Amino acid sequence: TRDFTIAIDGPAASGKSSTARAVAQELGFGYIDSGSIYRCATLLALRNNIASDIDKHWPELIDLIGKTGVEIKIQPNSNRSLSVVAAKTGRLVVPSVQILLDGEDVSNDIRTPEVNRLVAKVASDGGVRSAVLNIQRSLAANADTKATETQGNGKDPHVIPGGVVMDGRDVGTTVFPNAELKIYLDASAMARAIRRWDEMNSQLKNKQTEEAARKQENKADTSVPVEYPSVEDIARELEQRDYADINRQHSPLRIAPDAVVIDNTNLTFEQQVYSITDLARERM
Ligand code: C5P
Repeated sequence: TRDFTIAIDGPAASGKSSTARAVAQELGFGYIDSGSIYRCATLLALRNNIASDIDKHWPELIDLIGKTGVEIKIQPNSNRSLSVVAAKTGRLVVPSVQILLDGEDVSNDIRTPEVNRLVAKVASDGGVRSAVLNIQRSLAANADTKATETQGNGKDPHVIPGGVVMDGRDVGTTVFPNAELKIYLDASAMARAIRRWDEMNSQLKNKQTEEAARKQENKADTSVPVEYPSVEDIARELEQRDYADINRQHSPLRIAPDAVVIDNTNLTFEQQVYSITDLARERM
């Protein structure tokens, strides 16, 4: 059986990344978050002080992208399928992902408000996109799990294909136009903003708990208080990024003609993950 590619595209904060990770874990596939590669490219621009007048520095940035190693590590690295976990708890557990830039863990550094503001601009350049495309294809080739043959009746062995799940904006249209399954994941603008806001607030809570623990240990508190934006601020930021992604010249965000559109505004996480794994299994 040929290897199986699942492309998951859609607007910002539609739940692509957590859904893609859960689908990959459930099917035993590799996973590539293509947005994180554009975020790494943006971090390179910021760190090399070429972000403020990026329009004059595209060749320099493209060169930097070509020279820098990007790795995406999914954790826990276990073969245990999610359904095993779900049978015990009734809920899917989403594995976490670590992004490495030349070996340095930049998982948090690529999700700052600064990167959020600049990333769609960086992703609009054709040269940047082809440099990132090379990285996407080589990461996918390495993340692709291999087909396994289970013990059948001897005459008709059952083969479970290996494969990869990649999420982004143009995976089904440009990166893997022949993907066996293409999903366009959408949700209402308000649902997406509220989810992102929730995510930020739980991060804030974790930070506060850590700070309280530090204070109890009588350690000096050197952290800078973080100001979290309102739901309206987040909605505006998502809208601006979607506008840039839909209206750019090079491989804009589009629904591939053969994509299955899933609007998850009123779906549970489990419902949307299982609807995708069911579709994949039907086509294997
Ligand atoms: O998915 P995420 O929000 O992390 O993506 C960040 C940005 O990277 C997007 O807003 C988009 O500008 C860019 N991107 C892209 N093509 C992809 C994935 C992400 O242009 N396949």
